[in-house]
Amino acid sequence: MVNYKDLGLVNTREMFKRAVAGGYAIPAFNFNTMEQMQAIVMAAVETKSPVIMQVSKGARNYANGTILRNLAKGAVEYAKELGCEHPEIVLHLDHGDSFELCKECIDNGFSSVMIDGSSLPYEENIALAKRVVDYAHQFDVTVEAELGVLAGVEDEVAAAESHYTKPEEVIDFSTRTGCDSLAISIGTSHGAHKFTPEQCTLVNGVLVPPPLAFDILHEIEKKLPGFPIVLHGSSSVPMEEVNTINQYGGHLEAAIGIPEEQLREASKSAVCKINIDSDSRLAMTAAIRKHLAEHPGDFDPRQYLKPARENMKKMYIHKIVNVLGSDGKLAQ
Ligand code: 13P
Repeated sequence: MVNYKDLGLVNTREMFKRAVAGGYAIPAFNFNTMEQMQAIVMAAVETKSPVIMQVSKGARNYANGTILRNLAKGAVEYAKELGCEHPEIVLHLDHGDSFELCKECIDNGFSSVMIDGSSLPYEENIALAKRVVDYAHQFDVTVEAELGVLAGVEDEVAAAESHYTKPEEVIDFSTRTGCDSLAISIGTSHGAHKFTPEQCTLVNGVLVPPPLAFDILHEIEKKLPGFPIVLHGSSSVPMEEVNTINQYGGHLEAAIGIPEEQLREASKSAVCKINIDSDSRLAMTAAIRKHLAEHPGDFDPRQYLKPARENMKKMYIHKIVNVLGSDGKLAQ
């Protein structure tokens, strides 16, 4: 058994309380590689922001759970080395799909887990989430559960269509499961292709997607005052990165994300955790494609991973400062 406290990690409880009260959101960045971890830590330290580093089932399959946990341990030490005396770093399991997987992560140093039973019938979702909560809370690990279904593909989690969260279910669900935070579905989705061009309106040459269902978010907030709400699928898919990828040999068509103004607005509500993965993938790929196209003789991975890391760091800082507002929000 590895307890996250021994690794210098924290759970989400206190940082969510402050974020809901303060009208900002904590960034939850997915990571699979050392370069992503370094970029996340550099950005969090530079902006003095708490941060959630999250690992999906796909990331564990790619990089190995033990290695990712040790990267998170290294992240805490690296943050201190960079001058942050009291970093607040959460190691979170993204989209846990079984009790066994959540337990394995809790037993191996994760400070927070998500149990995603959103595709199950309502009562089964409650039973599964409660089982995970009962186990996790023995070790002071916090649990995110989900109500409502997001469309899109997230590593190994795929759903063809979305179903918005029903506000009339949230009190019963959160009370009976005892979860610490609730992921809701209000129009975000996973991946870099969140909307088809047909769903969007053309404004000044830019495809603008339909707005998020803020009415549902506000109804949920009224039913659960102060309760931490989570938004998945919140990459904005910056045109600049998509254009760079396409300019240097890529082929990404009709990639459309969530406009940053809407995420900024959501951050001011009870939404206190915003999940971003695809934007990091785009930033990394754009920088690597550009570098290799401009330096065809390079073959040392450090030559193209360094600009990739820089580009991700720039993106993370932008999100923290200009979108989520979590800069300067460390407890001490
Ligand atoms: P994006 O694909 O929009 O980055 O969403 C990531 C996410 O929600 C991870 O759980």
